[in-house]
Amino acid sequence: MGPHPRAAGCRKARGDEIRRPRPRIGHGRRASFDNSSREAGMWRTVLSKLRPDSTRRDRNGTEWKEMMKMSDEVLETIRRRRTVREYTDQEVGEEQVERLLEAATMAPNRLNRQPWHFFVIRDDEVKERLAGILTLHPHLASAPVIIGVGARPELSTTWRMDAMAAAENLLLAATSEGLGAALLANPDGTLWRTAEEMLTEALNIPLERGVRIPILVAVGYPAEEPEPHRLEDRFDQTKIHYGAWEERDLGPDG
Ligand SMILES: Cc1cc2nc3c(=O)[nH]c(=O)nc-3n(C[C@H](O)[C@H](O)[C@H](O)COP(=O)(O)O)c2cc1C
Repeated sequence: MGPHPRAAGCRKARGDEIRRPRPRIGHGRRASFDNSSREAGMWRTVLSKLRPDSTRRDRNGTEWKEMMKMSDEVLETIRRRRTVREYTDQEVGEEQVERLLEAATMAPNRLNRQPWHFFVIRDDEVKERLAGILTLHPHLASAPVIIGVGARPELSTTWRMDAMAAAENLLLAATSEGLGAALLANPDGTLWRTAEEMLTEALNIPLERGVRIPILVAVGYPAEEPEPHRLEDRFDQTKIHYGAWEERDLGPDG
């Protein structure tokens, strides 16, 4: 994949730098660690200046250095996560699937309603029926495991977003486990509704539970290795606004 068409719009010139919020630290305030990328970089700089000794520890005694490493690993996993649609025949163990599901259930969700249900599908017949309906996606049949990320709309108006947050966690956990995964979702499509109805019947989901399955995640050991994401392909600064909207040339595709 070549560079993002808008990557050239990335601002590099002096005086046009990224404005970052200043870290609030000192005056008796205890520094709390935030795992987000910008925050992590910020803390790394601040802490290296403030406490260059080996006494950097949080309340639980974890060394800051160790926490920073963890943060780097998370960022690296995010960068390495790519859609993988080809899998080897190697089996994906139950414990591994469980770790993916554990990660999924840690996801943010509105009002902590956790409206999700997860369906682990290994049955070849069900996978083939799925691929037979969603014909553009043969990897639904070839993946060792399909995880249906379902949700109950009656529990939360944001059920689709909650399901998506869970699915993203699941994808990251799969990357971290050395697995390849592909998310599929087109829940308003006619064929998708047919696939959902088929799954509802095949998986014995009681109709009165009103479970929807807006997302499917195919999982297996990767038989292809897409390159990790590169900043120049993705980090398009014309789409980032510090404070108010900053008008820019957004390119032909907006
Ligand atoms: C909401 C959503 C729906 C998607 N649906 C499909 C799909 O139906 N089939 C498919 O092969 N990939 C699907 N994808 C995966 C995207 O094609 C993929 O994320 C995109 O091309 C970027 O590649 P990357 O995941 O490697 O970064 C979907 C992704 C999202 C977020």
